[in-house]
Amino acid sequence: MDDQTAYKANYRCHEPGISPEEVASSYTDWAPKYDETLCPGRYNGPDIAAEEVALRIPKEQRERVTIIDVAAGTGRVGLLLKQKGFTNIDALEPSKGMMDLLKETGVYGKTYQEFLGARQNSVPDDTYDVLVIAGGMGEGHIPVKGVDDMIRMTKSGGLVIIVMRKEYLEDVVEYKNRLIPHIDTLEKEGKWSKVEVKVVPSYSFNKDGLVFTYKVT
Ligand SMILES: C[S@@+](CC[C@H](N)C(=O)[O-])C[C@H]1O[C@@H](n2cnc3c(N)ncnc32)[C@H](O)[C@@H]1O
Repeated sequence: MDDQTAYKANYRCHEPGISPEEVASSYTDWAPKYDETLCPGRYNGPDIAAEEVALRIPKEQRERVTIIDVAAGTGRVGLLLKQKGFTNIDALEPSKGMMDLLKETGVYGKTYQEFLGARQNSVPDDTYDVLVIAGGMGEGHIPVKGVDDMIRMTKSGGLVIIVMRKEYLEDVVEYKNRLIPHIDTLEKEGKWSKVEVKVVPSYSFNKDGLVFTYKVT
């Protein structure tokens, strides 16, 4: 598959004004071809996310820490985390088609077929040492208020790691002039503190990505 066809397939899940339910069903339609379309090289979100988790958690702690992979898709982040020695990984993913494939990986414990932010979810408070998201931010995807929910689900002292396309900060109306100010407000309110925010090259379709790493208070 060429890059242009792949780009169009991805765009179908990010059409301006798309609702959360339409996003989930677009991913279900795409699920059988998702991994082939967004193959490593063209989309490097899962590798970047797993690398960031591994950077923050020493090897000797990896069998102990509890992780939730949010917007987990077909489970690529979980598979990479398992290769790095992590064993307690749950998933939240609203699309049935993606979730069915994720379950086949066999690397996840609990699975929540639910949305983050867009609708209420049933993940308990203060549960995870690490909450990681690769590719879950975008038009109609996780809204700004989802950040509050990320903090809610993460234990005090735990990490929230968000990997997303950099240009979405400007191109997605929901995020423009809102996402970064909200993240900063939560820091001023003492809800979390910045560990690192960095720009990474070749996140997706050769475009830059952003990696946010925050520690929950
Ligand atoms: C680009 S895929 C990324 C999947 C996987 N993390 C990866 O990197 O391959 C985006 C995923 O976000 C999910 N998603 C969309 N809106 C969401 C929301 N509000 N909460 C959680 N997940 C959402 C979609 O169903 C889709 O599986």
